[in-house]
Amino acid sequence: MRGHSRRHHQQAQGPRPSLLAHLPQALVIAAIFSIVIYAGWAYQTLSIRSGHPGPAPSTAPSVRLLKPEQANGGGVAAAAAGFAVGSRVGRSSGAQLTRPSPGGTLFSWGLKEWRLGRLAGDDSIPEPALRHLTVISAAASRHSAVVTNDGVVWTMGSNDSRGGGGHGSPPLAASGQLGRGGSKEPGPVEGPLVGKFVVQVVTGRYHTLALTDQGELYSWGLNDWGQLGRAAAGAQSEADPSPCTAGASCHSGTPGLVSLPGGARVVGAAAGRYVSMAVDESGRLYTWGHDGCSNGGKLPERDQAHKPRLVGGQLAGKRVVAFDAGYVFWLAATAEGEVYTCNSQDDGYAGTLPKKHQPNEAGELGRDGDPLVPGRVAGALTGQKVEVVAAGREHAVVATADGKVFTWGGRELLLGRTGSAREPGQALGELQGVNIRFVSAGEYHSGAASETTLYGWGSNDYLCTGVGKNNPVQKLEGGNDRGDVMLPAKSLGPISGGGWQVQALVAGFQHALAIAANKGGSWETQQGTLKEGKTAAAAAATTTDAAAAASAAAGAATATNGGGAATAAESSAKPQQYTDTSAPDYHTRYLAPQLHPIELNASEYAKRYRRSDRFNLIEPESPDIWRVLPPSYDPRFKNPCWMAGERLRCVPYFHILGVSKCGTTDLYHRLSKHPQLFESRNKGPHWWDECPHPPKGACTAPPNGDFDGYVDLFADAAERILKTPDGVTGEASSNTFTSAAGVFLRGPSMDRNTTVTIAELMREASPFLRNIVIFRNPVDRYYSAFYYYRWWVKDEPTPGPEDFHKAAVQDIAEWRSCVEKNDHRWCVRHYHPQQLVKGMYSEFIMDWLANWPRDQLLFLRNEDYSKKPREHMEAVLNFLGMRQPTDPEWQTIMGMETRNKNSDKYKKMLPETRAMLEEFYQPYNERLSHILGEERWLWRDPPKTPAAA
Ligand SMILES: *[C@@H]1O[C@H](CO)[C@@H](O)[C@H](O)[C@H]1NC(C)=O
Ligand SMILES: *[C@@H]1O[C@H](CO)[C@@H](O)[C@H](O)[C@H]1NC(C)=O
Ligand SMILES: *[C@@H]1O[C@H](CO)[C@@H](O)[C@H](O)[C@H]1NC(C)=O
Repeated sequence: MRGHSRRHHQQAQGPRPSLLAHLPQALVIAAIFSIVIYAGWAYQTLSIRSGHPGPAPSTAPSVRLLKPEQANGGGVAAAAAGFAVGSRVGRSSGAQLTRPSPGGTLFSWGLKEWRLGRLAGDDSIPEPALRHLTVISAAASRHSAVVTNDGVVWTMGSNDSRGGGGHGSPPLAASGQLGRGGSKEPGPVEGPLVGKFVVQVVTGRYHTLALTDQGELYSWGLNDWGQLGRAAAGAQSEADPSPCTAGASCHSGTPGLVSLPGGARVVGAAAGRYVSMAVDESGRLYTWGHDGCSNGGKLPERDQAHKPRLVGGQLAGKRVVAFDAGYVFWLAATAEGEVYTCNSQDDGYAGTLPKKHQPNEAGELGRDGDPLVPGRVAGALTGQKVEVVAAGREHAVVATADGKVFTWGGRELLLGRTGSAREPGQALGELQGVNIRFVSAGEYHSGAASETTLYGWGSNDYLCTGVGKNNPVQKLEGGNDRGDVMLPAKSLGPISGGGWQVQALVAGFQHALAIAANKGGSWETQQGTLKEGKTAAAAAATTTDAAAAASAAAGAATATNGGGAATAAESSAKPQQYTDTSAPDYHTRYLAPQLHPIELNASEYAKRYRRSDRFNLIEPESPDIWRVLPPSYDPRFKNPCWMAGERLRCVPYFHILGVSKCGTTDLYHRLSKHPQLFESRNKGPHWWDECPHPPKGACTAPPNGDFDGYVDLFADAAERILKTPDGVTGEASSNTFTSAAGVFLRGPSMDRNTTVTIAELMREASPFLRNIVIFRNPVDRYYSAFYYYRWWVKDEPTPGPEDFHKAAVQDIAEWRSCVEKNDHRWCVRHYHPQQLVKGMYSEFIMDWLANWPRDQLLFLRNEDYSKKPREHMEAVLNFLGMRQPTDPEWQTIMGMETRNKNSDKYKKMLPETRAMLEEFYQPYNERLSHILGEERWLWRDPPKTPAAA
């Protein structure tokens, strides 16, 4: 790391810039500014807290919208995704606790009915629905429910139980699962949910559950076997409106609160036909309704069934991380990756068939033994670590940590493989070699998805597989274009075109839903909603009510511990004790799940990339980029390059985005020893964050500091690429990651009136980029930064651990004083005290996740990299799609001395300093670990002497 990148750090550690020297006044001024300039954001905060904003403003005229959705209104979905919503991530239904969704566009396919959220378009392939909403959670049954990024639940589809009540329950014309009046068309659920921020919604066959960020669970719909987990006030029957806890026609059309024993907070839920499930923050599983596995192996009395009960037997004391309820059974995966199943002892045919369906008749348990106590599924699952599960009517689809899919139950059609349905086996077809992260199981179809691609198989009677019609993968007979899909096959539609980040996949009875993000947020209306956001914000600034609500919201965000806006549900990702950090593969096993085959090369990717709807906002932030970029890249080169006259010009193929003092320099220099990797003239030009637009001189990109000069930094690399067409170049500006969240964008952007972030600008300019981020325990990073920047303060004695302690105390006090007076997000954006804020990784990551497909981001941990550098290098080269080095090349790469290793040069920090900083960073680490779905980001493993820094 050379001089330039140090610039904006030094300010904070060296002599304080004047703004910061006069902190109290600065904050007052800043607070005033924040009302004016950040009104747009205040508005978003407001919309989160108040449930839904009032009447929906009309959407941008250029946007194709389904009329009925417009009529339903309420669609002031978030503008720049990742800010307002950043702190609230959703979970897909089927309760995959490990798969949060930062928010994206809803896709639907299958039976053409309002449950799709659209009536227009092709129902045989995944196409966008509810385009004016950004969705963070989705659930599908005969009805659908989604959660928007302002925490509002929308429902659509059936509100009746005409599919059959079962156990003598007569079909009801209005069982209430939509949770609202009106019609089948999409509409927000209000009542007791107003003012709540929902993070997950799940749907049983005739009921719905919604989980708030406070860990509260609400239920509504049919309650014939107590599946609502509560008394349903006033709906015994038409004739008898007294509260009921069960009974043939017991139901509730309004959300009501479910209480777990001992007031445990819920972190995830699932719903089947007669049973509901929830997991608390300690990973304990509860069920209620018609289920024996939480009732000592026998079915509960009907009037007792509604009481949530802890699941016992072999699941007692295990931490459940994924679970789902089907029609006749449920399944749960533990932190160790074991799967347990249980039968809800229903025949699945609602008592309508002459012959009773026996438990496990379809092999849904995947095991032998008592169906009413939890039992482990073994066979082919032995030795596999299952992380994701889905339960269909009577079949199961699960995926392992390394992306393999196993199925059992039902009939062969649903399995995606041959062999017995009574025990698990691996589904193959086009899933072979694909890293599957999501699975779904419908009534008669199955689904799976990698981070980028959807797959389906099974019955296509209702077009649920997503492969379209007359596709050769179908078994087409007698002119029927809806033939079954026997083996997993890629779905069609916009997502299959590439560049999308899949965030969730769920199956209903006759339809399926997915959430996927392209450029972040909802795919059509960014521009429209932004404009409206501003208008509404202006309005908010003038009404005292709204201002009060906004400041209350800001208060709530910072009150917790002065440390983080971590929400309840997020901070419930408690330190997890089950990780064996001494396992031989501990330091490497997080790598493989992040690696995906690269489907499009850079030139092809750029060709297919669809310009952001916010382009008219993005472009003015850096118009020089679009004056230089070519209309297309030369397909002969792996790296994005083009001929400009005689000369080949290239832009980076990859970026190491940060974080400084985490090992970025070491990684870049090792990579540069690869014979196909050509260095830029400046390892870390920090052009995107620091070189201002309009240019004020050479900056790091001579002669003018503009994009033209930036591209010239890769001129030497371009000459080499001309001779080595599969060579690539890249750079490592290590402050790029923490320039997101509105901090830097072609110069400081904290005080600029822009919603464009560096993550968004870079995606728009170089959508194909492959981005690498290294994190390190923020406590060690902060310590390392302290010494690193101190070196440059001349004529002062080297500070000792006591000096460091003093500096840390002062930094924390300054931070706290900021969040007392301002919105937490505002303080992050103002990036002070800089070295302290840089360790709040969770506050920056959402911008990257919202704007980039997950498979173009690789997150590494410095502590793991130091332990297993060679394996990390292999993973990075895979991520970049580069060949593995030969033995002599490896010797050069690994023989290199560790760069910037200065940890031996200073004394250990005092234990009390470490304790103080660990406490400070804990909420941020918890959020990061929740977002990335792994406890490694809690830095619970014993602190080691850090290596490469
Ligand atoms: C911020 O930008 C918007 C849109 O460009 C403009 O309408 C608004 O007046 C600006 N606000 C300030 C404080 O400059
Ligand atoms: C759904 O059913 C409930 C009865 O529980 C009824 O109050 C509500 O109006 C119905 N909603 C719709 C959209 O049909
Ligand atoms: C990139 O992909 C396109 C389309 O498949 C192909 O024509 C081109 O040759 C590829 N370029 C490289 C360098 O692989």
